[in-house]
Amino acid sequence: MTSSLKFAFADFQAELGATLVIPVAEDLLLPPAAAALTPGLQALVTRAAEAERFKAKAQATLVLLAPDGVPVERIVLVGVGPVDARAKLNWLTLGGSLCAKLPSAKSVSVLMEHATGEAFSVDDVADLALGMELKSYSFERYKTKKKDGEGAEPGPSLVTLMVANKNTAKKAFKSREAIGSGVNLARTLVNEPPNVLFPSEFAERAGQLEKLGVEIEILEEKQLRKLGMRALLAVGQGSEKESRVVIMRWNGAGDENEQPVAFVGKGVTFDTGGISIKPAAGMEDMKGDMAGAACVVGLMQALAGRKARVNAIGAIGLVENMPDGNAQRPGDIVTSMSGQTIEIINTDAEGRLVLADVLWHVQTTYKPKFIVDLATLTGAILVALGQEYAGLFSNDDKLADQLSKAGDLTGERVWRLPLAAAYDKMIDSRFADMKNTGGRFGGSITAAQFLQRFVGETPWVHLDIAGTGMSSPNTDTNRSWGSGWGVRLLDRLVADFYEDK
Ligand code: BES
Ligand code: MN
Ligand code: ZN
Repeated sequence: MTSSLKFAFADFQAELGATLVIPVAEDLLLPPAAAALTPGLQALVTRAAEAERFKAKAQATLVLLAPDGVPVERIVLVGVGPVDARAKLNWLTLGGSLCAKLPSAKSVSVLMEHATGEAFSVDDVADLALGMELKSYSFERYKTKKKDGEGAEPGPSLVTLMVANKNTAKKAFKSREAIGSGVNLARTLVNEPPNVLFPSEFAERAGQLEKLGVEIEILEEKQLRKLGMRALLAVGQGSEKESRVVIMRWNGAGDENEQPVAFVGKGVTFDTGGISIKPAAGMEDMKGDMAGAACVVGLMQALAGRKARVNAIGAIGLVENMPDGNAQRPGDIVTSMSGQTIEIINTDAEGRLVLADVLWHVQTTYKPKFIVDLATLTGAILVALGQEYAGLFSNDDKLADQLSKAGDLTGERVWRLPLAAAYDKMIDSRFADMKNTGGRFGGSITAAQFLQRFVGETPWVHLDIAGTGMSSPNTDTNRSWGSGWGVRLLDRLVADFYEDK
């Protein structure tokens, strides 16, 4: 989306760009194709490495001016560690951290050959490219002035990956590219300001997936009322902006009647807290309270873009939580679509009200194999886990384990927290079937207990992404406020456990 980085694939004899990247193993071992470029290269590398104390540790880089005889401006050496440990290398993070070191707006060639002369596997090539694509994303849409000497986007503009077999590498990258653009779409949705991205605009953007063959259904307030989604509508009733629910459907399995998998996202396009209004400091961050919905849209784009062999539903609840003469009050009792009644204690616990109706609708209408929901649901999850792990809650050990595995493989990690009847009691209400907050203790858990009352027997995972989805720190593969967290995780869950082979 906001990464203008282009990739090309070429063989080792191809013409070189302005910068040449060469992977270097420990003991300064160069790939044969690099050594062949010019006879003096090994000596130059040895001297420069000594001067700069470059030991070719994994992800370390060293920039050299190119010697005579090599038709490039610069050579960037990138360390890959011991020759025999390369199976353990993470090419995604290596690609990302390498990308940050490359001169901006120039063409770069990467020589993808191991010091042993072995070719890179196509997966390693594709991971490196994805890491670069992710790191090169930045959100500049509302900057009208560029700083002197800075391009619109950081990092190079064209990367040519020099590989042993360019056609198979190109093919493997195609599906990674779809994942990368899904992540970058999610990031953009999270980064957009709340005056631009309100519920109906968000719905329009999700509607764009139709071009990829995703079926789109946009439910407007009239239809939501007819369905009985009163809990969701109650959150939006204090806003000038109308609420929406979007159902996306990707039918990629061989059999279009095969039971789908389902993903549900919280899409509060701005959360003031409502009548239980939040303090002013940092309230602007609440534009990111739709990161769950953004992830679901990004995921659907990734699945459709790489033509995943799976049937998948993506459902997002889009509302704006505002204080107003028509806003809901603490003390109100609303009847959810499920028929269960909810006493509103705090209008700032709005995400669970939105999810309650969308979860119920998805569960009863599509009877999915499982539901994974994502929501920036509680500040308490930041207290518990910080910004490194998302909180995972589940009624199904198998699904929870699959997500943990996908988390380890993608680096988008999850940590399971308990659900139990003892916590469930904390949200019983004196006046209704339940109340929307459970007090100060275990805030992320009581929120999850609330959601569990709307999923029936469906295998279900709730991911609390308040810490991971927004306000994100820079990492090897991200420099965006909205991280796009969860797209790679859930794509991997589908790819490894739910796709027809
Ligand atoms: N959107 C917030 C949670 C949040 C906090 C997301 C920080 C991202 C960063 C959510 O709607 C909320 O306000 N939760 C309350 C719940 C409380 C009233 C029970 C919270 O966490 O304080
Ligand atoms: Mn809130
Ligand atoms: Zn919220």
